[in-house]
Amino acid sequence: MRDEMRRLIELDRERTLFTHIGAILGWDQETYMPEKAIEERAEQLALIEGYTHEKAVLPEIRDLLAALEADAGLSETEKAYLRVARREFDREIKLPSTLVTELARRTSLSQAAWVQARKENDFGKFAPHLQTMVDLNREMAQALRPGTEQPYDALLDLYEIGSTEDGVAAVFADMERELVKILVKIESRPPVEDAFLRRKVSAAAQARMSDYFMGAIGFDRGRGRLDTTAHPFTTTLGRDDIRITTRYLEDYFPSSVFSTIHEGGHALYEMGIDPGAEFRNTRLADAASMAIHESQSRLWENIIGRSAPFWRKHYPSIKAMAEGALDDIGQEAFLKGVNKVEPSLIRTEADEVTYGLHVIARFDLEAALISGSLAVADLPEAWNKKMKDLLGLDVPNDAVGCLQDIHWSMGSFGYFPSYALGNLYAAQFWDAMKAELPGLEDMIAAGDVSQARAWLAAKVHKPGTSYLPEELVQKVTGAPLDASHFTRYLDEKYAAIYGY
Ligand code: CO
Repeated sequence: MRDEMRRLIELDRERTLFTHIGAILGWDQETYMPEKAIEERAEQLALIEGYTHEKAVLPEIRDLLAALEADAGLSETEKAYLRVARREFDREIKLPSTLVTELARRTSLSQAAWVQARKENDFGKFAPHLQTMVDLNREMAQALRPGTEQPYDALLDLYEIGSTEDGVAAVFADMERELVKILVKIESRPPVEDAFLRRKVSAAAQARMSDYFMGAIGFDRGRGRLDTTAHPFTTTLGRDDIRITTRYLEDYFPSSVFSTIHEGGHALYEMGIDPGAEFRNTRLADAASMAIHESQSRLWENIIGRSAPFWRKHYPSIKAMAEGALDDIGQEAFLKGVNKVEPSLIRTEADEVTYGLHVIARFDLEAALISGSLAVADLPEAWNKKMKDLLGLDVPNDAVGCLQDIHWSMGSFGYFPSYALGNLYAAQFWDAMKAELPGLEDMIAAGDVSQARAWLAAKVHKPGTSYLPEELVQKVTGAPLDASHFTRYLDEKYAAIYGY
């Protein structure tokens, strides 16, 4: 390896160290930090963000990139690394340090205001912060693509490289049509009974369940841990320190069970990234994209975690841990209950069919906020109208309406579509995995997910950012992204559950 490459990697690793230190501060803010520390924490995070950004735009990096790009003798991995390093350098150099620091500081305050506003069901408390987030995101879009008239495209590209509002809208239009068709078939059948899922199960019992499922999917407790937050998430504090969170609702234990499996899927991805020791803790060891990340969490949560084979193995254990709440409920009834399809207000609790409709609503609304066609003050009303149009629901208050998601409070605009794209990738990976691993569902029914985990690690996790998302799906499945894997998966699953 050339000296210039070694030096580039060294600088990249220093930047990664700052990223991970920032993640520690962020994780602590969400989990254990006392309330009054927020102002100071915002300053700490802004400082770290500033250093991280400085590390990413050193003039020396520009010179190293130029020298290496002129070299015809690089290995395939080196070329892949150089491609990612170039892309990220070009992106970061366009963002002024003042904007990066301001965004970090304001985001901390905005998130804290959102938590409070949601608790008190007071959109007015959050609105000025949301306005700041919208303004700073527009500024960011202009910095990334000077003079652009499609600022939302510049933001989408941050999460799913190369995606555009028009492109996503087209995929979503197809998906919406298919989802509505499946929903109509389901609604023609008698509803599934799931009231028993609302029986009280203590937080302590749910914590034992979460621990059980971390074990069941093969979460390496030596390289991560689980804590509780208002909104479950996964964060990487280091290559060997992947934190996940969940929340315990005593009147709805499936929330913690499935969010732990979901975040566990994200963690397995982070734990599986390994583009080679030489590129450890560089940008080549990042996730391929947010949608690929979401494909991993949703594959574990839904495709595996809500399947009949999975519960054949695990239902007796959960029943024993449920403090009597499931004593009169059989495995078949439980499986149907956790797969009940019914339009509901909360995205994170939505079933696999209506989930996509929630994402479409947020995509439409955030695109309108960024373009300016929707004013922040009009968001609650616009939100409520979307819920009525897409899901047929009346929203009783903003806490379960436009205040429910953390993303906009974090200044993440352009992230939501990744959730729905993740479902599409997940179903396509699953079909490829089933074809290559005969007896996969029997193994899952026997409680053995080691081959599934190893397949995902080798095919999807290991390369990190070596491939663009579109290249990765082609390489892993032999075909470009195709939504029919997902809709066929849903149709077959719900035909069995609802008997249509
Ligand atoms: Co997720």
